[in-house]
Amino acid sequence: MKHISLLLLPLGIAQAGTVGRRAPQHDHSGPAPPKLPGQSPFAGIVGQLDLKGSGGDATAALIKVLPKAHFAVSEPLKPQVRQGAKRHIAKFGPYTLTGKGQPKPKKLINSLDPNGQAFIELTSDGMCSNCTILAGKPGLLFEDGSPAGPAQGVYIHHILSHDISKKALKPVAKCVGSTNTTQTNLLDLLGAELFSQGDDNSTPFYFTSEDGAYPSGFFVGSNDSFALQADLVNYNADTRKVYVTFDIEYVDGHVGSDAVSTLLSVGGCGGIGGGNAIALNQTGPAETTGRKIPILVDGKIISAKGHMHIGGERMILLINDKEVCVSAPIYTKANGFESIAGMPSCPEAIPVKKGDTLTMKSVYDLAKHPLRSGAEHNAMGNADVMGMFILTWAVDGERK
Ligand SMILES: *[C@@H]1O[C@H](CO)[C@@H](O)[C@H](O)[C@H]1NC(C)=O
Ligand SMILES: *[C@@H]1O[C@H](CO)[C@@H](O)[C@H](O)[C@H]1NC(C)=O
Ligand SMILES: *[C@@H]1O[C@H](CO)[C@@H](O)[C@H](O)[C@H]1NC(C)=O
Ligand SMILES: *[C@@H]1O[C@H](CO)[C@@H](O)[C@H](O)[C@H]1NC(C)=O
Repeated sequence: MKHISLLLLPLGIAQAGTVGRRAPQHDHSGPAPPKLPGQSPFAGIVGQLDLKGSGGDATAALIKVLPKAHFAVSEPLKPQVRQGAKRHIAKFGPYTLTGKGQPKPKKLINSLDPNGQAFIELTSDGMCSNCTILAGKPGLLFEDGSPAGPAQGVYIHHILSHDISKKALKPVAKCVGSTNTTQTNLLDLLGAELFSQGDDNSTPFYFTSEDGAYPSGFFVGSNDSFALQADLVNYNADTRKVYVTFDIEYVDGHVGSDAVSTLLSVGGCGGIGGGNAIALNQTGPAETTGRKIPILVDGKIISAKGHMHIGGERMILLINDKEVCVSAPIYTKANGFESIAGMPSCPEAIPVKKGDTLTMKSVYDLAKHPLRSGAEHNAMGNADVMGMFILTWAVDGERK
């Protein structure tokens, strides 16, 4: 999943109305990030944003530019997380992925993989309204309903979704010291992050504890719109058609505490892709320690799950320098492709207070797990590795 590299893209959008790319904000926690090549994933969008036409409202300008997703169908499923909840899978598309080496259609956003196809679209259908999402999972299916994954020659670089009508709540100061209030990041304009999924797409994304008992969830308003974003790679010689899917479990109305998820990279906030900041060693383990990140809310981390690419050994989470969670990839091999089947989340809720600090460590071992073919260099020129935690926070107190 390259979510973090998107987050880190220095797309400065000045409120004054000029839109353009800025030099990367260096977080002083690693080597200086490399110069951005000509094509950043969002360059196509940024060129089209008309802030003046939207009265200076950058989110409204973005909504005008984004195409509408085609919502195909929603099918009911049996709830898994909480008895009495509702669950369905919504399918969007189909999207046509051209074969390996064939020309890719021009899209608003560029893929981060030289052979990938990326897109970002809006929908107000297929999720739920005036509801509390307990868990969910993005995915990819072929037209006949069978799964599309590495074993079928399709690599999910990432699928992301945002509730664009909901203001993002930040439980941590991700980029402390480099916040510039006169500019904002394109992903911030997309509102509250809902689900993100990378190449380890087997486990759901929780906004409650995994047993469904913790009284929290992601509150969705009565009339919210969602942004869907995907970056997919087809390794097959021929064209494949796929649906992007969202499997969501929810209850009606707003129940419990509002929950928010964050994706944090050991590479910090300035290192593009995190790749240049993550230590790698071809012949043995290499550990990277991120810097201390201030926590801004009282509440609990109710789910902590690592995200790594092939080569990863484990992610370690520390609160106030004390180890509280270790999440390690589970490897599988199918059709000659090694892949990460999942990274379990830590079962215990972790209490946090405003003023606490959070630190992450990543351990990669390329001697045990060589990089995915094609991962030596991404579109940014870094090794395609990630060291992240996906954290779900139940935040104390009311949230509007
Ligand atoms: C913040 O960003 C604006 C717009 O890009 C720029 O003009 C200003 O100099 C920046 N301020 C700092 C402190 O970096
Ligand atoms: C819902 O959103 C649509 C599109 O943004 C808008 O036209 C409509 O008035 C909204 N309805 C309500 C009840 O807010
Ligand atoms: C939202 O759902 C709750 C519970 O079903 C209901 O009581 C409330 O009236 C709904 N609010 C709106 C704005 O539809
Ligand atoms: C890489 O790992 C090997 C064996 O574990 C070790 O001897 C070597 O010093 C490491 N290299 C670096 C740059 O850390």
